Amino acid sequence: MSLILWIIFGYLCGSIPFSYIMAKIKGIDITKVGSGNVGGTNVLRSAGALPGILSMVLDAAKAFCPTFLAFKFSGSIAYLVALAAVLGHLFPIWLRFKGGKGVASTVGTYFALNPTIGWLFFMIWLPITLITKYVSLASIVTLTILGFVSFLFSKELGILNLTLAGLSVYMHKANIQRLINGNERKTDIIEIIKK
Ligand code: G3P
Repeated sequence: MSLILWIIFGYLCGSIPFSYIMAKIKGIDITKVGSGNVGGTNVLRSAGALPGILSMVLDAAKAFCPTFLAFKFSGSIAYLVALAAVLGHLFPIWLRFKGGKGVASTVGTYFALNPTIGWLFFMIWLPITLITKYVSLASIVTLTILGFVSFLFSKELGILNLTLAGLSVYMHKANIQRLINGNERKTDIIEIIKK
């Protein structure tokens, strides 16, 4: 398959708005509640544990699948497919280009290209989330650290993961402002799961 077809395939997979769909199944328009973000964290807070976790897993899977297939069949084209899939999540054609912040989809590409980075994500992100209850803070810090750590594996992976981190940090700009102002939403994952 040619490069352009791989990129279109990656973008279209990334565009599938699973978080929007999961919330809609529960009768919620995710763009109008909580942070308004089309992402698993907002679904978790607004619709509960199952739709939230499913949103995160499916958002990761939609980026994992095209990236993994491209890696298997076309080698380093996969780095561009990974970028296209995350851009699909950030700017989905189905939601007038207003998507999420790219955390779960980036994690999906980690597992496709280098599972060690994928596992490291949870080892850093989970404790920060559980301790601070700020998913945005955990996401920004973890993606940035892993962007730099990825250079230990290869230059290509480092450039990709630092780019993905930069995109996601940019998409979190309202969260960063709220963290500075002290009015960022807290997400108590354990409490939400217990309900
Ligand atoms: O994955 C997005 C997360 O880091 C922040 O989401 O809804 O708190 O803005 P939210």
